[in-house]
Amino acid sequence: MKLWGGRFEKSTASFVDEFNASITFDQKLYKHDIMGSIAHAKMLAKSSIITKEESKKIIEGLKEILADIEAGKISFQIELEDIHMNIEKLLTDRIGEVGKKLHTARSRNDQVAVDIRLYLRDEIINIKQSLKNLLGSLIEIAKEHIDTVMPGYTHLQRAQPITLGYHMMAYFQMFQRDYDRLDDCYKRLNIMPLGAGALAGTTYNTDREFLREELGFFSICENSLDAVSDRDFVIEFVNASAMIMMHLSRFCEEVILWNSKEFNFVEMDDSYSTGSSIMPQKKNPDVAELIRGKTGRVYGNLINLFTIMKALPLAYNKDMQEDKPPLFDTVENVKACLEIFNEMLKTMTINKDSMRKATKEGFMNATDVADYLVKKGLPFRSAHEVVGKMVLYCIQKGKSIDDLTIEEFKNFSSIFTEDILDVIKIENCIASKVSQGSTAKASVERMIDKAKEFVDKL
Ligand code: ARG
Repeated sequence: MKLWGGRFEKSTASFVDEFNASITFDQKLYKHDIMGSIAHAKMLAKSSIITKEESKKIIEGLKEILADIEAGKISFQIELEDIHMNIEKLLTDRIGEVGKKLHTARSRNDQVAVDIRLYLRDEIINIKQSLKNLLGSLIEIAKEHIDTVMPGYTHLQRAQPITLGYHMMAYFQMFQRDYDRLDDCYKRLNIMPLGAGALAGTTYNTDREFLREELGFFSICENSLDAVSDRDFVIEFVNASAMIMMHLSRFCEEVILWNSKEFNFVEMDDSYSTGSSIMPQKKNPDVAELIRGKTGRVYGNLINLFTIMKALPLAYNKDMQEDKPPLFDTVENVKACLEIFNEMLKTMTINKDSMRKATKEGFMNATDVADYLVKKGLPFRSAHEVVGKMVLYCIQKGKSIDDLTIEEFKNFSSIFTEDILDVIKIENCIASKVSQGSTAKASVERMIDKAKEFVDKL
């Protein structure tokens, strides 16, 4: 029954059949496998390796199989190992002897390599669309909150006032780079291994240029040994995905903190929160926590793939069959996380007042006071010292810098004049950040303009 059974005297142990098989997971590739086979069958006829009638029969058979799989009419067989041999067997069962000609000038090694590339090409397009949606949402929130004041942190300690619009645009930059990384990965992925044969090329006068055109690849793998051995495009994709997950996870961590009573900066919508089985009052940000958690899976998948590939001699080795579970898991997770995160973000309520209130404590205008003294002639290190003493004084008196009178200011340095009282207002601290790329409104507007330009072109 085995398609390769000729040289064997005994059949495989049923345990080995099960162990060896990938059909339980690689059936996901059915559409792309058939797509590759149809192109291959066309090419075989065009190159006069099989007749036009034979090719036509094969293609019709494959199309019927595709429709039947889609209609849920097919049950795959573990004894036939993988999606490639399941489909080939279905084909010969349906169209007879001529089906056995499909695998001429082809090996499962170039077949599986082309299947994964075709599959991943489609999925990268899907993920790029989800990223685009998220980029659009970030622009919307940034526009709406270009004047919403909040604390900016380092070490999770209040550092300097910024706006929520600015904060959102920081994430925009990260996800924009992620988008570029996927584009870049696509460039190297969209190169065709089909026609490489098992490892050495084939003895047939095939037309790989025709195949390339038919399947929409940018170019053809230059070296057939490399074409069937390489999975670095999978690793590159999972790496780009790990980066997306890392960014999502940081964002989720912030949103989880912001959603706590301690911060109270945001409130997740009920539809993106869950309750507790014991504590009736609870409303938990499970969605954000799960995205943070699933990031671990994708990192794990990356290490998994690197480890599978690390010591494989050229060319194909069965170890490589293990590339699919981590790849599929990554694709499913990154797609789901991007989609759900975007919705969660769009439905979350932003408590502007709490954010603003949080900027009042924590001496967030201390650097601005130091800069004021510098502009009036004091070296920065000396100004830092003066303001440090002021902060200590405020802590001891239980005051904020804003509570100090001009007389108190003057006690720390004779340089201070009335205008300091204006300089320390939170809105002014933000507006005075004149450097390119700062949190000031004009600067964030510029970011938003450039961001829109980027998204509109996608
Ligand atoms: N199921 C195999 C895989 O996913 C297909 C390639 C098998 N090739 C071979 N020579 N055994 O890697």
